[in-house]
Amino acid sequence: MTVLHIDSSISGENSASRAITRSILDQLTIERGGADVIYRDLAAEPIPHLTLDAFADSSVIDEFLAADTIVIGAPMYNFSAPTQLKAWIDRIVVAGKTFQYTANGPEGLAKGKRVIIGLARGGFYNQGSPAAALEHLETYLRGVFNFIGIEPEFVVAEGLGISPEHRQTAIQQALGDTVRLAA
Ligand SMILES: Cc1cc2nc3c(=O)[nH]c(=O)nc-3n(C[C@H](O)[C@H](O)[C@H](O)COP(=O)(O)O)c2cc1C
Repeated sequence: MTVLHIDSSISGENSASRAITRSILDQLTIERGGADVIYRDLAAEPIPHLTLDAFADSSVIDEFLAADTIVIGAPMYNFSAPTQLKAWIDRIVVAGKTFQYTANGPEGLAKGKRVIIGLARGGFYNQGSPAAALEHLETYLRGVFNFIGIEPEFVVAEGLGISPEHRQTAIQQALGDTVRLAA
């Protein structure tokens, strides 16, 4: 099994999404020992924003296509994905490689991969809540991965800005969820 592990939080050791992805990795490698893990820290080594010339460099999409399982740390910044993560997505959603248009509409070509997303956000965005219309992270990531043929799984820690106590409880709960997810 080849696992591609991606983090994008700017918060280093204080990052909730990094703690969640680390725990998912621990679970996956415990369960299926011997996995090859490739790690990309998009905050430490950002991928340049998309340009026409960038399409000539297939290293990012090749790495994605070679992985069976992709684990992604996704903090919410300004209601959406960090720009670092968006730059990575811009390299993996490529016509003819991860999707194609057919007479029946778009078809995902990346079927069969497992994508697990460790998502962290400061507020609450559940349906019916005042901020629900501003949730452009989970909906965006689900939409993007569905588009290329993958149903992503989410482990979510939310309301992290409410209080230090709530933050700790929510992160612990998400870490517990990673155990059940791997099982
Ligand atoms: C630059 C920045 C922007 C943020 N914007 C939002 C936001 O729009 N909505 C939200 O609920 N939380 C927001 N937050 C809070 C983060 O989502 C929260 O701190 C979460 O823990 C970030 O994940 P991380 O700990 O892995 O970095 C923001 C935090 C930062 C640093």
